[in-house]
Amino acid sequence: MNYRVGVAQFEPKFLDVEKNLQTMENLLYDCQADLVVFPELATSGYVFKSQDEVKSVAESAFTGKTATLFKKLAKQYNCSLVVGFPEKFRNQYFNSSILVNPDGRIYVYRKIHLFYEEKLFFSPGNLGFQVFPAKKDVQVGLMICFDWIFPEAARTLSLKGSEIIAHSANLVLPWCQQAMITRSLENRVFSITSNRIGTEINGESKQTFTGMSQILGTRGEILKRMQEKEIGIEYFTIDPTLAKDKTITEFNDAFSDRRTEFYS
Ligand code: ACM
Repeated sequence: MNYRVGVAQFEPKFLDVEKNLQTMENLLYDCQADLVVFPELATSGYVFKSQDEVKSVAESAFTGKTATLFKKLAKQYNCSLVVGFPEKFRNQYFNSSILVNPDGRIYVYRKIHLFYEEKLFFSPGNLGFQVFPAKKDVQVGLMICFDWIFPEAARTLSLKGSEIIAHSANLVLPWCQQAMITRSLENRVFSITSNRIGTEINGESKQTFTGMSQILGTRGEILKRMQEKEIGIEYFTIDPTLAKDKTITEFNDAFSDRRTEFYS
C-alpha cells in the first residue's frame, strides 16, 4: 500500500496559540498526504514557568480551537493529522497529542513519561499506550518526546499492532534521533519524529530544541531527516504493511522469539 506521510518542523511562539495554529495551517497548504505529524506542544510552546501559563493555553482535546481547526484541515486535505498541545481535562492538565482523522474522529494520547519541569505543570498520562486507526485504517501508535528513552513505549505500541509510531517531540537532549533508529528496527515499525526548532527563554529558564525531524523505515533506515533549523514539512511514501513482517532471519522473528518468561 502506498501511504504518503509527512513530518513537520517549525518554531512555535510561546503562548501564542492563534499564531501557531496559523503557522501549521500555512505549512499544510496544498498538502497531499495520508498522515502528517506535528511537534509536541506545537500550539503553545514549551518553557512554562507557572500553572497560570499552562491554564491560559490548555484546551479540550475534542472541542478546543486546535481540535476544531485540525478537524477542518483533516477533512479539507483528506489527511490524518497528529499534533501536540496542552490538554485541559476536568481540573487536570496533560501534555497530550491527538490523532485527527478526515472523518472527524479524534483520538488522544497523554504523555506518560514527563521530562524535567513538565512534572511541575502537567499530570502524567493516564490513558496508556494506544494504537488508533488513521486514514485507510493504518494503525498509528502515539508517543511524545521523552517516551523515546523508555523502550517499553515503542515496544508496547508495536506489540499492540502499530505500523507507524507518530512521535511528537520538543527534543533538548542530543540522543533521540539516533536512538529512534533502534526503536524502529527492533520493533520493525515506521516512526515519524516531529521535533521543533529554536530557543525559548522564559525568565531564568531557557531551552534549545534540536530539529532534525525524521521519518524512519522498519529497518531503521533514515527515509527523511530535516536540518537542525529547517522549517517546513518533508514527505515520503511508505508501505505501512511492511511493519506487519517481524522477520529478522529465516530462523528469527522479532516478536515471536521474545522470551517473556525471562523479562520480569
Ligand atoms: C521532552 O520530553 N520534551 C524532552
